[in-house]
Parts: sequence; C-alpha cells; structure tokens
Amino acid sequence: MNFQLTEEHLAVQAAAREFAQSELLPGVIERDELQKFPAEQIRKMGELGFMGMMVDPKYNGGGMDTISYVLAMEEISKVDASASVVMSVNNSLVCWGIEKYGTEEQKEKYLPRLATGEIIGAFCLSEPEAGSDATSQHTTAEDKGDYYLLNGTKNWITNGSTASVYLVIAQTHPEKKHRGINAFIVERGVEGFVVGKKENKLGIRGSDTHSLMFTDVKVPKENRIGDDGFGFKFAMSTLAGGRIGIASQALGIASGAYELALKYATERKAFGVEIARHQAIQFKLADMATNIEAARLLCLKAAYHKDTHQDYSMSGAMAKLFASKVAMDTTVEAVQVHGGYGFVKEYHVERLMRDAKITQIYEGTSEIQKIVISRELLK
Ligand code: CAA
Repeated sequence: MNFQLTEEHLAVQAAAREFAQSELLPGVIERDELQKFPAEQIRKMGELGFMGMMVDPKYNGGGMDTISYVLAMEEISKVDASASVVMSVNNSLVCWGIEKYGTEEQKEKYLPRLATGEIIGAFCLSEPEAGSDATSQHTTAEDKGDYYLLNGTKNWITNGSTASVYLVIAQTHPEKKHRGINAFIVERGVEGFVVGKKENKLGIRGSDTHSLMFTDVKVPKENRIGDDGFGFKFAMSTLAGGRIGIASQALGIASGAYELALKYATERKAFGVEIARHQAIQFKLADMATNIEAARLLCLKAAYHKDTHQDYSMSGAMAKLFASKVAMDTTVEAVQVHGGYGFVKEYHVERLMRDAKITQIYEGTSEIQKIVISRELLK
C-alpha cells in the first residue's frame, strides 16, 4: 500500500491551493453576505482546468484522475465552498454523466464548453416531493415521437440560474416506476423553461440554488441520455461519483476550519500563554486533525476505487457520511476555539460552520448514505 502522492498530484494540489488563496479568498465574505455568484472566479477555474478535470483531453478536459479531483476539491473548499459546489456539480454530475453515458454527438456538442468552464451545467433530480425518495418523480416526459414533452418542477437546483445545460430527470412510463424514468439534456432558453425562485440559504450562499419550471418544453429525442428507461440508473450512478466530490468538499471545509483554529490558537493569548498551550485547546486540535485525516483517507480510497474501476458506491457513501460529520463537528469546534471572534464574519469559521451543514444534506442526506452502505453490506 502506497500513501505517497505523485508529483502530478502534488502539483494539482499546489495549483488549487494557490488559486484558492489568491483568487477566492479576497471577496469570499462579501460574496457570502450578498449571495453573489463567483462568476469571474469560476471562469478562471475553467481556464485552469478545474471545471472538467477528469474529462478526456479530446473534449478539452484535463484527463486527470479522481484523486487529483479530490485534492483540488479539498483546497478550493477550504476557502470557498460556494465555488467548490459549482465545480463539483459540473465535474462529477454533469461532465461525468455526459461523458460516461452520452452519445458521441452529445459529448462533442456539450463537453468541450463544459470542461473549460465556458458554460456550466446543472443536475436536476430533486422535486418539491421527491428529495430522498428519488423514484417519486412527478416531472413527466411524454413521448411524442421525435420529441418529448417535459412538464414539472425541480427544486434546490445548484447552478439553477447560471447553467446553460441542465440534466433533467423525468418520468416517461409511470407504470414502470423507476424503470420508466429518463434523463435528458435541456438547454437554457428553450420555450417553456423558466428559472424560478432563488433560495436564501444558510450556507454556500454564493452558489445559486433555484427552482425550475418546465411547461410543455419540447426536448428532441436525441437529447435523451441512454436507452428508454435508463434515467434512474443514470441518476444513481452519477450521484455515486458525485458523493466523492461532496465528501471532498466536506473534507475541505473541515481542514479549512482546522487550519484557521490552529493558527488562531498559536496567536491568541489567555491566562498569560498562547491558548494552544492549554490542554483544553490541544485536545480539540488533536481530535480535529485525527478526524480530518480519517476523512481524507476515506475520500482518497473512494477515488482510488473509481480510478481503478472498482465499485465505489459504498466507499463514496462512507466518505460522504463521515467527512460531512467531520465538517460539522470540526467547524463547530473551530468556532469554539476562536471564542467570540469565531462568531463574527472576519474570522471565516462561522461561514465554514454554516457551509458544512449542507454536506450532510445534498447529494443524499447522511441517512441516505447509511441506506446505500447497509444495502451493500447486506447484499
Ligand atoms: N449505479 C447504478 N444503478 C444503481 C445504483 C448505482 N449506484 N444504485 C441503485 N441503482 C439501481 C438499482 O440497481 C435498481 O435497479 P433495478 O431495479 O433495475 O435492479 C434501481 O437503481 C433502483 O435502486 P433501489 O431499489 O436501490 O432504489 P430505491 O428507490 O430503494 O432508492 C436510494 C435508493 C438510495 C434511497 C435513492 O433513491 C437515493 O439515492 N436517494 C437520494 C437521492 C439524492 O441523492 N438526491 C440528491 C439530489 S442531487 C443534488 O443534490 C445535486 C446538487 O445540486 C448538489
């Protein structure tokens, strides 16, 4: 077993760290407060290859492995989880979904611009009444011969107003339940497609989360992904990889909070010494560092499984379950280490604490991860 990162991995990690510190850190507090989408930063991330890291270079992608993606996600998320969720959805759900299951025409049409961040994508599964219970799709895609007629509402869609390409899951044959579901590529601007309300969120406030409405939207048949009825498997398979991305986001939020707490503890004095000299703080730092290391190993193991074509449903779910809990626990403790300063915006840890919570909810709640894990265990 080799725990050593390669030169290439270290270079990707260093590039992501440098970008996060120089381009994302300035303005991150303001973007959070104003709910401002990091448009300029995402454009630069595209130029640097962070928006299509694993896409084949023939479609303008980075041709990198999932380990590189985990490393970059951690560094970006340490500083700005709003930017990293945009990156994660674009890389693991949209680019990967199209590259893995799309036709050659779909890949050539969409991937080159998605992989360079020229455009970004959104993944539209959740509905007002279908969150965890993803098979209960109320959005319908009626087969009309050479096109489908899409009707329904999607909720909580990351990149809802900023995406140009939407992967939309909808029910075509209700009698077949999940085997009657399809996935479609829908372009922004088609008639009948309206971007709805923007959510005013607790965390990841720089990312834009919207509801979407589809009324008699005509989707050409060639925009269906996979065979008729493949949509639910498409969604589950894509989300399995997406969970590695969100696990890495949670890892980054935790390690960002830990680094801030460590720095603060060696600077701030109380009772005549730096607070890091007090055992009460040392115990917190030791717990944080240990949990973060365990979360990192789970993320890298899931990435390794994906890169070596092994089943990664369970390892990805374990990584997300654990890393998101570590993100929550670590950020709460990082605020505590900072005392009153942790409660104000300038010190960043309160934002990281707010951002951490969503990692236990999206791309499957912690309870959903436990279902995925236990089903694998009981197979
Ligand atoms: N890969 C391929 N196929 C898979 C799969 C995978 N990883 N997991 C399941 N499937 C297949 C099964 O084999 C099964 O196929 P057959 O019926 O042909 O055998 C089919 O899918 C149904 O599987 P289940 O019986 O396990 O389905 P279920 O109804 O019991 O649900 C679930 C399982 C795990 C609860 C699932 O519904 C789920 O993951 N729910 C959570 C959904 C979710 O994560 N939503 C997040 C929204 S996206 C988001 O947050 C993005 C964003 O913007 C950040």
